Amino acid sequence: MAAIAVPWDSKAATADEQGNGDRDMTSKTPAVPAVALGTWAWGDSGEAGDGYFGSQLTAYGRREVAEKALSNGFTLWDTAVVYGMGRAETALAQALKGYARGEYQLSTKFTPQAAGDGDDPVADMLEQSLDRLGTDYVDMYWIHNPADVARWTPRLIPLLRSGQIKHVGVSNHNLKEIALADQILGKAGFRVEAVQNHYSLLYRSSERAGILDHCREHDVPFFSYMVLEQGALTGRYGPARPLPEGSSRATVYNGVLPQLRALTDRMAAIGADRGAFAADVATAWAIAKGTTPIVGVTKADHIDGLVRARGIELADEEIAELEALADAAGVDTRGFWEHEM
Ligand SMILES: NC(=O)c1ccc[n+]([C@@H]2O[C@H](COP(=O)([O-])OP(=O)(O)OC[C@H]3O[C@@H](n4cnc5c(N)ncnc54)[C@H](OP(=O)(O)O)[C@@H]3O)[C@@H](O)[C@H]2O)c1
Repeated sequence: MAAIAVPWDSKAATADEQGNGDRDMTSKTPAVPAVALGTWAWGDSGEAGDGYFGSQLTAYGRREVAEKALSNGFTLWDTAVVYGMGRAETALAQALKGYARGEYQLSTKFTPQAAGDGDDPVADMLEQSLDRLGTDYVDMYWIHNPADVARWTPRLIPLLRSGQIKHVGVSNHNLKEIALADQILGKAGFRVEAVQNHYSLLYRSSERAGILDHCREHDVPFFSYMVLEQGALTGRYGPARPLPEGSSRATVYNGVLPQLRALTDRMAAIGADRGAFAADVATAWAIAKGTTPIVGVTKADHIDGLVRARGIELADEEIAELEALADAAGVDTRGFWEHEM
């Protein structure tokens, strides 16, 4: 599949060279894909209104998504304990059952707010994730947010050394917090290998804060989450067809859907010229900005959209026009869990 870069290979050798790692970090290194797959909605319980997304996903449907994703070369899955408090990880393992472990990559997270009170809450949370995911390692482990960088980051080092974590990244961190995590890992010969932040046409704080430039300059892949603003940027939802009643995303977005119309209409028109849809253009925009979007796929058809998005090349004028329309919408979609960048 199309890979935008493989920066982890070259940097990863450092730990071994310094004698700080007892694993071959250069083997089985995943290429950074054009698009990764998100599973937050997979943590919903299946009852409408019961869960953040109000999605009614079935095991059959999720399996369809997984099969179609893998057969189209989308193999990197992003999840977290807190997506349905374990439900998303369990659902993901079910959907991938029968595939060889080498055919896909798993990324999950340590969420400080969900830490237990044992001696090593990071190791404990990882162990529980590994159990639910049915594996003995994750390809990428993220610190979910910068609640206490100095406290939690060092805990990753023994897990990197043991090979339970192949790579480490930070999420929702600003430049200063990324630098601190990098410094802590650097003392042991490791480093922040990826950054995962909210980044969409409507929410470009990581770009404005210089995090995208920082990542580009240091060969650190930037993964953008919520490029579709949880469905609000797909063009599929509008005042006449709101997001599922009773869901948290409906509370956040239904009130601003009228303001998004000019943007989603323009994305739909740009897409129509290429046999694609508004959602595909929103994803293509994130790829064009040099990031790897993590798209929360809930239907097998969404994989077709990712295939289209992967093939779309937006002109500079189109990018500028979409960003101007996004700014003109005047909405702030910062998540309740995010702080200023
Ligand atoms: N690190 C963090 O703090 C953090 C925070 C948020 C998200 N994330 C990660 O990023 C992933 C993506 O974010 P998200 O799932 O919240 O939101 P998202 O990707 O912006 O939107 C997902 C929603 O968009 C719709 N959709 C998905 N693919 C589509 C396609 N190709 N065409 C049309 N519609 C499509 C689906 O809505 P319907 O089901 O209604 O069709 C889906 O529920 C998450 O799943 C999670 O893995 C990380």
